Amino acid sequence: MILVTGATGNVGGNVLRQLLDAGERVRALTRDPGTARLPAGVEVVGGDLAEPSTLAGAFDDVHRMFLFPVPATAAEVLELAKGAGVERLAVLSSSAVTQPGENFVSVMHRTVEDAVRRSGLAATYVRPGGFATNTLRWAPTVRAEGVVRAPYPDAAMDSIHEADIAAVATAALLDDRHVGAAYQLTGPGSITQAEQVEAIAAATGHPVRLEELTREQAREDMVRVMPAEIADLLLGYLASSVGTKAEVLPTVEQVTGRPGRSYAEWARDHAADFTPAA
Ligand SMILES: NC(=O)c1ccc[n+]([C@@H]2O[C@H](COP(=O)([O-])OP(=O)(O)OC[C@H]3O[C@@H](n4cnc5c(N)ncnc54)[C@H](OP(=O)(O)O)[C@@H]3O)[C@@H](O)[C@H]2O)c1
Repeated sequence: MILVTGATGNVGGNVLRQLLDAGERVRALTRDPGTARLPAGVEVVGGDLAEPSTLAGAFDDVHRMFLFPVPATAAEVLELAKGAGVERLAVLSSSAVTQPGENFVSVMHRTVEDAVRRSGLAATYVRPGGFATNTLRWAPTVRAEGVVRAPYPDAAMDSIHEADIAAVATAALLDDRHVGAAYQLTGPGSITQAEQVEAIAAATGHPVRLEELTREQAREDMVRVMPAEIADLLLGYLASSVGTKAEVLPTVEQVTGRPGRSYAEWARDHAADFTPAA
């Protein structure tokens, strides 16, 4: 049995489906089994990674696990998992751990990776850069007004499809050759934010206009939904990416045997998110 945590999320949800497609027995962890919409064939268990005492039974008969990162309790969760017989993990981490210096994101993921290393469990570290799903923040204004309001339209992105992150994690769970590896992942191409907006318009068949925000206007919007430290980090990253090409890594194809999905493909997969209700 393979336990998937974060199973209702972007990456975990895809890990779940890919493991099912591979014929594996899968259990999904969610904090709210009553409302979680999970595919048929999955065993569902309630529990909160932030409250390890709620995880009794979640690890029964489990030998492998996809770990969603919850830093404060990661060490305790891994101790429980190991004690219950879990042998191996794919860990959702971040490329931020490979960058010099410390920030909110790198500290969070280093904490989880360190806990995994200390647990002694066999593990594969999956370290994606920016998710294509981050652009879902544009969906409400695209649906309502056909507009994206964003700073730095010429910033170059290497956004990765969540299904590709999941494909690497799934390979890591199913193939022993990935034990001990740390895979830094990007999408398959460098694309500006303005080109991402064009891809959304092409995917939905509706025009989408990009209105450029100043850094200050963008920050004001962002701090309503995220800590100021993360907003500043993201804005700094965008500012430094203007007029550059994002570095693209071959890791997804090397691990999964198929090229990474483009942003245009992601936009087609998510066209419904950007399309006004009829
Ligand atoms: N966005 C990026 O560009 C980026 C880049 C690199 C790394 N990352 C990392 O990727 C992660 C986000 O992945 P994602 O987009 O797949 O997540 P997501 O779509 O936000 O979903 C996360 C899922 O995890 C579950 N969850 C959250 N806290 C939990 C807890 N305490 N106990 C049990 N389950 C919990 C939730 O399920 P229930 O509500 O059903 O319990 C939720 O559905 C973050 O850790 C982030 O740091 C993100």
